[in-house]
Amino acid sequence: MRKPIIAANWKMYKTQKEAVDFLESLAASSLKEDREVWIAPPFTAISALSSTEKKAKISLKIGAQTISEHTEGAFTGEISARMAVEAGAQFVIIGHSERRQIFHETNAQIRKKTEKALEQSLIPMLCVGETEGERSLGQTNSVLKKQLEEALHGFSSPSIQSLVIAYEPVWAIGTGKVATPELANEAHHYVRKVLADLFGLEVAKEIRILYGGSVKPEFIKDLMDERDIDGALVGGASLNPDSFLKIINY
Ligand code: PGA
Repeated sequence: MRKPIIAANWKMYKTQKEAVDFLESLAASSLKEDREVWIAPPFTAISALSSTEKKAKISLKIGAQTISEHTEGAFTGEISARMAVEAGAQFVIIGHSERRQIFHETNAQIRKKTEKALEQSLIPMLCVGETEGERSLGQTNSVLKKQLEEALHGFSSPSIQSLVIAYEPVWAIGTGKVATPELANEAHHYVRKVLADLFGLEVAKEIRILYGGSVKPEFIKDLMDERDIDGALVGGASLNPDSFLKIINY
């Protein structure tokens, strides 16, 4: 049984105080217990959120939105896996399409970041997904396969056991164009097949694959009804406690 994860990617939104206010308001609501809630705030709010979480006795995982591919060194502006963990991060989003497109992150860098995360027992949440152009050319599966194989080659099955995948079609992110549940499930099913080829069927069956891209309270239930969809990575609709709560309690 794969326990669903509803995850928030706050991108470059919310100061430390805004993040704490959000969490306090979420903690005052009742959350269904048969699912996990994960939040990736900006780095500056990780530590405050993880202490608020402990005080408020709400159970969730706090994570980072990226980490450096290096252990430490002269890399101005970067944050290492070890620093993120010390601040309170339990997972890290790796290879988000905004990192790939705006910051030109390559699959090779994404692989190194995954390695750094695993070295520090940070759960990697690896994002994959095709652009609109790639989909229209019928390249969705080959793009997903390449992203997964290049990011994950060389890891042993036991070492990647904590891995979470987020399938986020680039054309659906922040656009309001959510993938249909059937189309999303088809991609998830394919991702699981590639994972099975890499790590074996038993491991692939345990890996949670989240859907991301314009998830809103009105779409979540239909997405979650699909067999291979194990949760959601939510951007815009996770910034407001009411809409995020509706998504959590779908
Ligand atoms: P969105 O973002 O929900 O605003 O489309 C999702 C994401 O970028 O992870």
